[in-house]
Amino acid sequence: QRSKLAPTPPMGYMTWNYYADKITEQDVRTIADAMVANGLVQIGYDYIFIDDGWQGGRDNRNNIIPDPKKFPSGIKALADYVHSKGIKLGIYSDAAPLTCAGYTASLHFEEQDAKTFASWGIDYLKYDYCGAPPDKETAMKRYKKMADALSNSGRDIVFGICEWGGRQPWTWGAEVGGNLWRIDGDIRDKWSADFDAPGTPKGGIGILDAVNRNADLVQYAGPGKWNDPDMLVVGLYGRKGPSGDLGGVGCNDIEYQSQMSLWCLQAAPLMITCDVAHMNEATKRILTNKEILAIDQDPLGKQAERKINKDGWQVYLKPLSDGNYALGILNTDSTSRKYNISLEQLGLSGKYNTLNVWTGETKKKQSKLSYEVKPHATIVLKLNQQ
Ligand code: DGJ
Repeated sequence: QRSKLAPTPPMGYMTWNYYADKITEQDVRTIADAMVANGLVQIGYDYIFIDDGWQGGRDNRNNIIPDPKKFPSGIKALADYVHSKGIKLGIYSDAAPLTCAGYTASLHFEEQDAKTFASWGIDYLKYDYCGAPPDKETAMKRYKKMADALSNSGRDIVFGICEWGGRQPWTWGAEVGGNLWRIDGDIRDKWSADFDAPGTPKGGIGILDAVNRNADLVQYAGPGKWNDPDMLVVGLYGRKGPSGDLGGVGCNDIEYQSQMSLWCLQAAPLMITCDVAHMNEATKRILTNKEILAIDQDPLGKQAERKINKDGWQVYLKPLSDGNYALGILNTDSTSRKYNISLEQLGLSGKYNTLNVWTGETKKKQSKLSYEVKPHATIVLKLNQQ
């Protein structure tokens, strides 16, 4: 039943990386208006996920309430507003008394909170794990409790498990009623933790770190159950929003395009976090490429397999519902290099027409590929059998 929710990876805007717990009702309206104005909603980014910081405690009947200063009109009015724009609304809680940022959370109030969320018109719940015991059994129990509560709430609410991968949620997330699960810690606006520049904040996960972790989890993903390597940092450029500094040093457009390429090949949820009201042309181009989005949203729901991981080259192959494939070639090296490969090496016999998703270049009847690949770039080809 729950597995029917999120048949393709959820897409939308998540408030954490830019706004953190400073998020307000006016910000959500601004995001919604911008997402309609710049066409993001129309091409599939149809959620806004309100992350931590919206809560204002409980009322005298123990109903969870929003912070009256940040959300003076209440969440129901906000849900009505975004629904009227064709956008679904996500919200956030935690499987302990308090959230990571110290706000009221849902432990022991699972049913009551699920009903409250349903009554507000909430369509998605991200459920965090700060302040909860470290063992897997407790995690499974607490996530199941909330998943069951959502199932009994009278509304279809997608359930996102956020326990950062430590208890291997890919092995039990679907079983307890989750539709996606984070596979690692919080992503930062950087290429890789291994490349932290001197003098910049260390730690956190970069784009390449998340991709490497996700590459081993192919078998666990499918319609209704997705591996979640965390949010898109595309377009942040190290800029701090009202959130202050979450630790990212910024990436270049090649790296942002790589994140988009690899997230789509790996059938990841696509959660934008940059300032959508002021995106530059490069950011818009990366986030709105229809071919790459179709690869992410392909109804077969298969995550790309990493076929080659050698000498700083990674090659990904994603089977698509029409019997064809998407192919990704990532150069993790810091120099521009040429890559040659025959499709036979990937188990593909015969000849294929290729479409380069990012340049639009097409080639006919290919069986050997040769590409110059810039540092940290990912070439993505749609292969159509002749
Ligand atoms: C930890 C999560 O991993 C983040 O994505 C974010 O939800 C914060 N908690 C909020 O406190």
